[in-house]
Amino acid sequence: MTSQVRGVQLARLLGQWHALPGRRRSPDYAALAGAVRGLLADGRLPLGVRLPAERELAEALRISRTTVTAAYRQLRETGHLASRRGAGSWTMLPGNHRVASSGLWTPLDDLDMIDLGCAALSAPPQLVPAARAAAEDLPRYLCGAGYHPTGIVELREAVADSYTARGLPTSPDQIMVTSGTQHALDLVLRLALAPGGSVLVESPTYPNALAALAARRARITTHGLAADGAGWDGDLLLGSLRQSRPKLAYLIPEFHNPTGHLMPADLRERVVAAAHAAGTDLVVDESFVDLPLDGTPLPPPVATFDRHSRVISIGGMSKPYWGGLRIGWVRASAPQVQRLAAARVGVDMASPVLDQLVAVHLLADAPAIVSARRAQLTAQRDALLGALAQRLPDWRVTVPRGGVTLWAELDGPISSALARAAEEVGVRLAPGPRFGLDGTLERFLRLPFTLPASDLVEAVDRIAGVRYDLDRAARPQWREPVVIA
Ligand SMILES: Cc1ncc(COP(=O)(O)O)c(C=O)c1O
Repeated sequence: MTSQVRGVQLARLLGQWHALPGRRRSPDYAALAGAVRGLLADGRLPLGVRLPAERELAEALRISRTTVTAAYRQLRETGHLASRRGAGSWTMLPGNHRVASSGLWTPLDDLDMIDLGCAALSAPPQLVPAARAAAEDLPRYLCGAGYHPTGIVELREAVADSYTARGLPTSPDQIMVTSGTQHALDLVLRLALAPGGSVLVESPTYPNALAALAARRARITTHGLAADGAGWDGDLLLGSLRQSRPKLAYLIPEFHNPTGHLMPADLRERVVAAAHAAGTDLVVDESFVDLPLDGTPLPPPVATFDRHSRVISIGGMSKPYWGGLRIGWVRASAPQVQRLAAARVGVDMASPVLDQLVAVHLLADAPAIVSARRAQLTAQRDALLGALAQRLPDWRVTVPRGGVTLWAELDGPISSALARAAEEVGVRLAPGPRFGLDGTLERFLRLPFTLPASDLVEAVDRIAGVRYDLDRAARPQWREPVVIA
């Protein structure tokens, strides 16, 4: 983990802190302290890291050292910084609270908070009957030791069948069950990427994938997605693969998180060919593949175009079913699955048998569960779009044809400032920069539609209220003398 953040790094993370609407409300030092608190709250600045010395940060930000001294003092007073004379200052949270460095964190005692930071549904009603049925099945497994590094065979069969049904013939020995899609990604990275290896990702992308890549100290290049229209620019994406020849590319072609884009079939085919020519392994995250909305037809899986075992697909139960199950999988060649299972023995040995049995029962009921989920998500998406059109008409949104999130283009580079202000009125947001690498994407905000429609409408109402306040605070208290010429 990073133990020290240098002045230039913190300056990059802070981005446009001095130009944010609302900042005239407070002096420079308070705006700086507020921006650091915002970075800590959403996980972009980890806890326990040493901040740069005051002089170094002042130089990096081109502001006076007194301003930094006052900001650090305020952060100490609010409990966000611990300093020891001569040793430096470390980030912390008030009351020694802890936050995952990924920022995916919900305090359980905060019941009034509308949490739009997390894009996942609550469990479907079929979960409890599935768990009961799984408990009935359990005796079949109790005479063995219970370790199944690639997963229990009945779940591998069910997952393989779902790929076959999508037009990609798959046998159970091509499937490895994991503890969630995130775990699948981590294992694949351990196998396919040496520390410091080069990786291409979309920008924006899923933040916890960036966290997994950071753990491998990956050297990351990005392919920028358009907020509207097609999303991927095929020629640019292929050009990046050809030029940078990364060891690995991580893509989310099925209702991409956060933008909701769906990669068209012809680009899938071209990407696989270009990856093969560049010697790049493709990790395809299919977390949202079960959630097309509006009857949107699905293109063939990316792996359909793969002739050289270049494509590793990952997916899981979290989005269509329930994240609390922690069941995901990898689809790869049978030898790759064996290598992954060997790597896993040094990590967690195997996934829980009981949870895998629950997954088997849920998958057996897939048509009913998934179609109810789609109907629920469609209604919630439409409620969110309606509230946005009414309360924040200047924001631009492309209607997502699947998945669980929309990516709003805001009316200014205000995403982090808005997230901080929204927290004050009980709405947790994941601001745009969480989905990128370099503190950019301040004009964007991801909004999931996984909560009930009434919560979404209430959240938009509160967000619109604080958006308006940001503007009012930004308005100067004095007027420029009018030049008459
Ligand atoms: C693109 C993507 N990949 C992986 C995950 C993690 O999924 P899981 O809960 O299965 O680990 C998520 C969850 O939001 C996601 O959006």
